[in-house]
Amino acid sequence: MTSSRDDHSSTPSSEADSLRDLLAHAQTGHEAGLRSLVHELHGDLGSSLTALNMHLVLLAQKLPPDPAIVDRVEKMKALVLAISESNRRIQLGLRPDKLEVFGLKVALQEAADDFQQRHGVACRVSLPDEDLSCAAETELALFRMVEEALKNIALHAGASQAQIILDDAEGAIQVTVRDDGRGIEAKEIEGAHTHGLRMMRERALSLGGSVRVGRRREGGTIVTVSMPCAANATRA
Ligand SMILES: Nc1ncnc2c1ncn2[C@@H]1O[C@H](COP(=O)(O)OP(=O)(O)OP(=O)(O)O)[C@@H](O)[C@H]1O
Ligand SMILES: [Mg+2]
Repeated sequence: MTSSRDDHSSTPSSEADSLRDLLAHAQTGHEAGLRSLVHELHGDLGSSLTALNMHLVLLAQKLPPDPAIVDRVEKMKALVLAISESNRRIQLGLRPDKLEVFGLKVALQEAADDFQQRHGVACRVSLPDEDLSCAAETELALFRMVEEALKNIALHAGASQAQIILDDAEGAIQVTVRDDGRGIEAKEIEGAHTHGLRMMRERALSLGGSVRVGRRREGGTIVTVSMPCAANATRA
């Protein structure tokens, strides 16, 4: 009978595989947990805020037209509006609705627009004409990896321009994120003490894909994620 110790030493890659499976499972569970939490929170808070706003409008109609009171009511209405807006933003940040409802192309375009607005770095998006349809977990993983690559550009690149390119090929999908910044160093690519790029690699591997990171000859950094997309199909 083979001892479990022998089993482990004779198949080192199986350990890495099961860790990878565990990571994929944890990520999927984490995202699913967040989704239901945010969904619940958003619904509860949203309906309470709508009711509060209604009460406020009715109350304002009954109050004497004293300028100080009118001013106070307007401030309260503005506060309710601000809380509703924060609630909406939190929900959008944690749960990429656009991805679920409209798919990867629309979600990437929105992420690029948001990145450009927030960081002042021009961000172009090149998309294939046809619609894509990969497994939901592949699309979510790709979206999260693009988010990490954009975050890295904002934090580390000092770039003035970025670009996201989505390509689909027979049975595969590829996303490239590149910038014209300072360019990543070789030692940073394998960085043992940071998590963003490592998580990207592990996430891609767990779904049978891969990530390449490098410096561009013309300056800047390029990150390419390739994923199998068995369900790749053109929607009418
Ligand atoms: N687009 C980029 N341009 C220049 N340097 C980059 C770029 N992306 C990453 N880097 C460098 O590579 C390092 C590793 O990136 P990584 O995403 O793994 O870690 P991080 O962003 O520092 O931290 P975190 O674990 O929060 O993601 C960064 O610290 C940065 O020095
Ligand atoms: Mg990072």
